[in-house]
Amino acid sequence: MLGPMTPATRDAYLRLVDDLTEHDRRYYVDAAPTISDVEYDRLNRALRDAEAGHPDWVVAWSPTQRVGHTPLSGFTKVERAVPMLSLDNTYDEADLRAFHDRVVKGLGGDEPVYCIEPKIDGFGIELTYVGGVFTLGATRGDGTIGEDVTANLRTVGGVALKLRDPVDLIVRGEVYIEKAAFAKINAERAAAGLELFKNPRNTAAGSIKQLDPREVAKRPMRAILYEVVDGERIASGHWASIARLRELGLATSDHNARAHSWDELHALVESWRDRRDALPYEVDGLVIKVDAFAERAVLGTTSKFPRWAIAFKFPARQVTTIVRELEINVGRTGAVTPVAILEPVDVSGTTVSRVSLHNWDQVGRLGIGTGDRVLLEKAGEIIPQILGVTEASQEPRWVAPTHCPACETALAREEGKVVLACPNRLGCPAQRQAAIEFFAGRGQLNIDGLGEKVVAQLIENGLVKNVADLFTITAAQLLELERFAKTSAENLVAAIEKARTTATASRVIAALGIPHVGGVAAGVIAQKYRTLDALRAACDAKPVVAVAATEEEEATETDPFAEELEQLDGIGEVIAVAIAQFLRDPHARAILDALSPYVGGALEPVAEVGTGPLTGKTLVVTGTLSRPRGEIQAAIEAAGGKIAGSVSKKTSYLVAGADTGKTKLDAATKHGVPVVDEDGLAKLLAGEPLP
Ligand code: IVH
Repeated sequence: MLGPMTPATRDAYLRLVDDLTEHDRRYYVDAAPTISDVEYDRLNRALRDAEAGHPDWVVAWSPTQRVGHTPLSGFTKVERAVPMLSLDNTYDEADLRAFHDRVVKGLGGDEPVYCIEPKIDGFGIELTYVGGVFTLGATRGDGTIGEDVTANLRTVGGVALKLRDPVDLIVRGEVYIEKAAFAKINAERAAAGLELFKNPRNTAAGSIKQLDPREVAKRPMRAILYEVVDGERIASGHWASIARLRELGLATSDHNARAHSWDELHALVESWRDRRDALPYEVDGLVIKVDAFAERAVLGTTSKFPRWAIAFKFPARQVTTIVRELEINVGRTGAVTPVAILEPVDVSGTTVSRVSLHNWDQVGRLGIGTGDRVLLEKAGEIIPQILGVTEASQEPRWVAPTHCPACETALAREEGKVVLACPNRLGCPAQRQAAIEFFAGRGQLNIDGLGEKVVAQLIENGLVKNVADLFTITAAQLLELERFAKTSAENLVAAIEKARTTATASRVIAALGIPHVGGVAAGVIAQKYRTLDALRAACDAKPVVAVAATEEEEATETDPFAEELEQLDGIGEVIAVAIAQFLRDPHARAILDALSPYVGGALEPVAEVGTGPLTGKTLVVTGTLSRPRGEIQAAIEAAGGKIAGSVSKKTSYLVAGADTGKTKLDAATKHGVPVVDEDGLAKLLAGEPLP
């Protein structure tokens, strides 16, 4: 099990941790990795193997310790000694000149050296290192009091867990998501039918405030550090302090520059006008800072802003255009969303002719109608958004429709939700079209050549009414349709056949488009039930139970199958109920019956799990332990073990720390589950017998 690279001594292990930390630095800080991904993965695996065998070796700065395992219940407040001030803003040359004149006056007539940095449009953070080890990460909060988001910041690329020298340091910076990564997240969300994120900044901010570090780790965030607190301890000026940060292994901007005079400053600011879009992340301006810490001290701060720095904001890129009409879109889940069709207009480089208004509340807020002139900008420089009406026409204002534009069914709004939906499900041609497109789409059945137009054509010609009909199409039938020739007809039939024969249960389940059930949840379900048919059978074996009415309470129902699903790792109540409801829905059942002969038996391959001394064992970890719970769980998983939340007869061991609750101990006694302490766990992980 242990490869030749697995370190055999603690010293060798620590060296491997340092090597991997150095490779992370080359990747995130220098953007110049020196080894391939494969090589990196091998080192990482060796590290995991060593840690599985020697859980007592694990150090907090090991790259395996970036992602915690336990969701937090909340964030603790942290008070900082030096408040995080914000910056005064300038918008034009005259303002900037006035700032420069104030600085020169404050310095008794001397022209300072300035540092000019991109103003990253992200989320402000502060990192504390003690003896070179990352110990605390906090949000800006109100400047003085922030929140402890250490566990989340550990997952961020560019936040070193350990510096190259054992220094004490407090640094400030910005967490952000690159534009391309943001576009990818939104494309995935769109494919999963989820609401889109508005812009990279909000997404980064929202991600850092999530309670589950595992969720945070899924967001590809990065950090850039731009200010050292009490920087004079490490250098005489800001420029040198930032250079030192980079030496220490922290990510800094590649675009910082210095100006030695007003003319240089002015020229640099001008040069940024065209460079702004070339950066991989969003910038909303520049930050101009006096370099010398001694000069900063002379200038001092006002109650809100430092007098030695200023933000130069770039002009917002907004344009106006005329609204042509309202398009009402009916999505796969029945959501009926408003889209404004516009006179095409260029918004920072892209032609925009349609803009989603997201929901009908937004339509009401904007007070928008056909013929209006509206102001729009690219939110996050990617998705165009209407900011408001600048000139209203005489036309009536748009209001939410009462009936579905595709099938005329009365629309309904789910309690407490902003989304208006058509309840006609697959009876609605628009939803049917979207459901079939989704079924055939990437990440689901992946049928080549089955795009929007072809699906529409197949529906129009009566060849398909539901997803199961796809499997009955013949080349001869296709040949009778417009735009199909022999090759294209045969290719499509072959693609459908290939999708059918290579489908896995998880893809089939994901392709059904059950609300809230994406690829991950489908994977968990498929691992348990292996085929769609088996999943249905399991559901049918556990019908809904009616709980009789009493005098005080109305009759209720419980769904034992939803409860069974909820036992699975990663399946919460919302998903469990959605699946059970779907499987019991008569309309869905008819489609599942029709699908059964084609993909109902598609088998899920068994997932690979870590193998080791705990393979096949399920452990419950509880009580106060000497190491973070997450570290212990990671070690168990790396050794092939599974983690469960509660003790049952399936539990192999209960790992009990100090003050373990009576409930868990009683359950262990009841089911005959052996209870081990941390020493016992160390033996289990090392594959040694228990005494
Ligand atoms: S220096 C006292 N440098 O902009 C100095 N801030 O309105 C404070 N920001 O809260 C910050 N890029 O979140 C500084 N290169 C940069 C920056 C930057 C972005 C953000 C930061 C700050 C806000 C100021």
